[in-house]
Amino acid sequence: MPVITNIEDLRVLAQRRVPRMFYDYADSGSWSEGTYRANEADFQKIKFRQRVAINMEGRNTASTMVGLPVTMPVALAPVGLTGMQHADGEILAARAAKAYGVPFTLSTMSICSIEDVAAHTGNHPFWFQVYVIRDRGFIERLIERARAAHCSALVLTLDLQIIGQRHKDIKNGLSAPPRTTLSNVLNMLSKPRWALGMARTPRRVFGNIIGHVDGVESMGSLGEWTLKQFDPTLNWDDVAWIKKRWGGKLILKGIQDVEDARLAVDAGADALIVSNHGGRQLDGADSSIRALAPIVQAVGKQIEVHMDGGIRSGQDVLKALALGAKGVYIGRAYVYGLGALGQAGVTKALEVIHKELDTTMALCGRTDVRQIDSSILLPGTF
Ligand code: GLV
Repeated sequence: MPVITNIEDLRVLAQRRVPRMFYDYADSGSWSEGTYRANEADFQKIKFRQRVAINMEGRNTASTMVGLPVTMPVALAPVGLTGMQHADGEILAARAAKAYGVPFTLSTMSICSIEDVAAHTGNHPFWFQVYVIRDRGFIERLIERARAAHCSALVLTLDLQIIGQRHKDIKNGLSAPPRTTLSNVLNMLSKPRWALGMARTPRRVFGNIIGHVDGVESMGSLGEWTLKQFDPTLNWDDVAWIKKRWGGKLILKGIQDVEDARLAVDAGADALIVSNHGGRQLDGADSSIRALAPIVQAVGKQIEVHMDGGIRSGQDVLKALALGAKGVYIGRAYVYGLGALGQAGVTKALEVIHKELDTTMALCGRTDVRQIDSSILLPGTF
């Protein structure tokens, strides 16, 4: 067992342990993957000011996101198919997040259902993500189910009205149901831990959908349904409708433009997430860390601004906070941990990032994560 000291170690181990089809699903972006790469690369261009001889005792990384207390301002992002990275993946990730004191966001496209995650995490509140899909009745029911499961925030994804193409998913035959080519089967069998876990769990289909939509009883019918369901007509009236139906804390995900950020404020959301969907949608969009500052400048006093995309370390978290984010989300960083080591791997990802955040903050001469601002950054590098 290799010694794990950073997120890259978890990624390497996940790549060994997770079937190619599902590993690639997480570790890829749309088309040229330019935006996907920029999300990470642009963090590297931002530099800290190294400060010394400042008392760094008694540090605090605790904060709040949409008013809820967090051990550090880092939430687990909604990620589809998490339960295919590791058997029972969503339940394991939700348990790790609960124990750590950070929010877990369950994707509509999860394997474990809302009810299942709630039942296996002691009904600890988590966040739930929805897409606007054509079947509005299904959304109404999803919102009711999230409410019944005591979800404490709804994350509405706005940047997936139409799906960005990831070449690897097509080549690997990632569809619902997955294409059972000989190469896929052999690849899955070459991952014994993964295969054993999957053989033992009953959770192998999209738990929020199958059995909850008329005519969708199996993975076969699901594929057709999903393709037809992403709704190109989505607009701000739908956002208003969802806000009214939900009535609780609402977070709008997928904002990259200042004008859209202003509309998110007008929509009365509690927070917005500066996000390009991890570089999986508009290839050629700016990295989310570069999109962040202008949005904070325009609306940061009116709405809580969060961000995701490219975060692989606590240093990245601190840079996002310095540029005005009140909280950030990790997607791949925790999914790699899950694929590598199950629940312990998600915990490890959180520990790695937490320690890096705390130490980096100290080396910048700061002691409280709630008081981080751009004065910790080297002028001209952001
Ligand atoms: C779904 O949201 C995806 O990015 O695959």
